[in-house]
Amino acid sequence: MTTPIPLLSLKTQHERLAPELRQAVVRVVDSGTFILGPEVKQFEVEFAAALGAQHAIGVSNGTDAIRIALEAVGVKPGDEVLIPSFTFIATATAVSALGAVPVFVDIDPVTMTMAPAAAAAAAGPKTKAIIPVHLFGYPADMDAFCALAAEKGLHIVEDCAQAHLTTYKGRTVGTIGDAGAFSFYPSKNLGAAGDAGAVTVIDPDLAEAVRQLRNCGRETGGAAYRHVRVGQNCRLDELQAAVLRVKLRYLAEWTANRRTVALRYIQNLQGLPIFLPDPGRSGTVHTFHLFVVRCDRRDELAKHLTARGIGNGVYYPIPTHRQPAYQDVLTRPTALPHTEEACRTALALPMYPELELSAADSVCQAVRDFFK
Ligand SMILES: Cc1ncc(COP(=O)(O)O)c(C=O)c1O
Repeated sequence: MTTPIPLLSLKTQHERLAPELRQAVVRVVDSGTFILGPEVKQFEVEFAAALGAQHAIGVSNGTDAIRIALEAVGVKPGDEVLIPSFTFIATATAVSALGAVPVFVDIDPVTMTMAPAAAAAAAGPKTKAIIPVHLFGYPADMDAFCALAAEKGLHIVEDCAQAHLTTYKGRTVGTIGDAGAFSFYPSKNLGAAGDAGAVTVIDPDLAEAVRQLRNCGRETGGAAYRHVRVGQNCRLDELQAAVLRVKLRYLAEWTANRRTVALRYIQNLQGLPIFLPDPGRSGTVHTFHLFVVRCDRRDELAKHLTARGIGNGVYYPIPTHRQPAYQDVLTRPTALPHTEEACRTALALPMYPELELSAADSVCQAVRDFFK
């Protein structure tokens, strides 16, 4: 192994964008406006347009985006919210922050997103909402979740933290449920220069509720120091919005690059005893936030790659329902075999838009060598 290949890297991207990013930051500093100014407003318009959403509201991070969206649709303390256990813990903590109860649901063994039948089985009289997570950039089965929500009168908040521009049957995720919650954590497909997030909604009243909840409960255009809700300070700031506006212009191109790398992996890794992700078809597009394979000898494979300087990562080693933080709030006994299996076998290979195909080929060769 010669040059190390990282799991992900922002270096090339930031080198290329440095002049534009500097210009954007200086523009904000010179403007003297740092909170809820023109950059946030413009970013909200541009992000909504990129997704085909009616409204996008910038917030402080993805966790707050989920929590605010849940509160805006009416989730209250004691309500149950169905979530996959196989996700980043923020999906669950956003529910808990409201005093609501996350009910952990198993995943589909093929897509690794929440299994609709398992969600239907877990829905009870206290269930108020569902959070399908479009994990790693692959869309959850939204037709099934919309049908379940309609049947049981539930709200849907899509966790799109890993799925900017992902589409499901021709529709961009974040525009299908009642609300979508996005993270712009720096390493996400669209990343800020710090923490940032957004909520997308269709309904104008819901949009206003989200705007109030992110800004200390103040009505949009309302009098200063008059507050109509108990909201928090979860605002997106001007500097982050200006950075995001620069990066948003490249998101479609970066997504296409991610898919090119993924398709190369899929082509070159055929025939090995590993399970490969589905890139999607006919309007359903995986945007490959992470390229995750599954392998029975995962830990050995990870060691082998690391020894060759090839970055890799385990997402996620511990299912959320087994996290120490969640041991005393389980609502009912949970057997989540597909979740456990994914935590045991999933391994992410290097993935970022600037990854050269020759580097992807080196990764594939290293994986092939492992199985020789
Ligand atoms: C699936 C998922 N949900 C929620 C979040 C929370 O986003 P943030 O880190 O911006 O709060 C993340 C990302 O970290 C995530 O990957």
